[in-house]
Amino acid sequence: MAHEAPKRAAAARAIEEIENGMVVGLGSGSTAEIAVELLAARGLRIVGVPTSERTARLARRLGIALASLDEHPQLDVVIDGADQVERGTLTLVKGLGGALLREKIVASAARRMIVMVDDSKLVDRLGGRTPLPVEIVAFGWRSTLGRLAGRGLRPTLRGGAERPFVTDGGNLIADCAIAAIDDPAGLERELSGIVGVVETGLFIGLASRVIVGGARNVEVIER
Ligand code: A5P
Repeated sequence: MAHEAPKRAAAARAIEEIENGMVVGLGSGSTAEIAVELLAARGLRIVGVPTSERTARLARRLGIALASLDEHPQLDVVIDGADQVERGTLTLVKGLGGALLREKIVASAARRMIVMVDDSKLVDRLGGRTPLPVEIVAFGWRSTLGRLAGRGLRPTLRGGAERPFVTDGGNLIADCAIAAIDDPAGLERELSGIVGVVETGLFIGLASRVIVGGARNVEVIER
């Protein structure tokens, strides 16, 4: 796994904030999976609300008690990774792992969102280094991609037309190549208004704390 040691350092620092009795949103992706493993090893009595079927399987195997978001509509905290973190605002790009919709619903239901990343994810301005994932309805996906392309977002269907990647919610993902995201809120509004778009990988105003693992130290950034 790329950047494993910094990811592990960030995850280890994040789970220090979890206490017995908490309802904890469990993110998706390699960093969140490290955090789930470390959490299980600590043996805390928590209830986990997973953001993907993959994380649910891992947590179940490790003996973490799980519940659905409907059973616990408000969470104490969610711990999750990210693909990009804008240093000045803590706005995130998420969804390279394909779990953005559930991740965003769970993050929106949590009192706090703690994000764990290695230092390669920290950027001054979002865009460029990874695409912006946009979850779209499978029905009529070519038309939806056309609408995204019409706005200059250069979308590609994840997995390709022959074997598209299907999310846990049964949707598809359009990965949009955007050189620089100067106005995340404006872009979010624009994308949300496109017919066929379910959710975007932009997480605005959700992260309360970002823990950045580096080669030698761990940085904690508060919103
Ligand atoms: C999952 O869909 C994503 O939002 C992940 O949180 C993101 O891709 C980070 O993943 P890694 O921890 O594997 O880099």
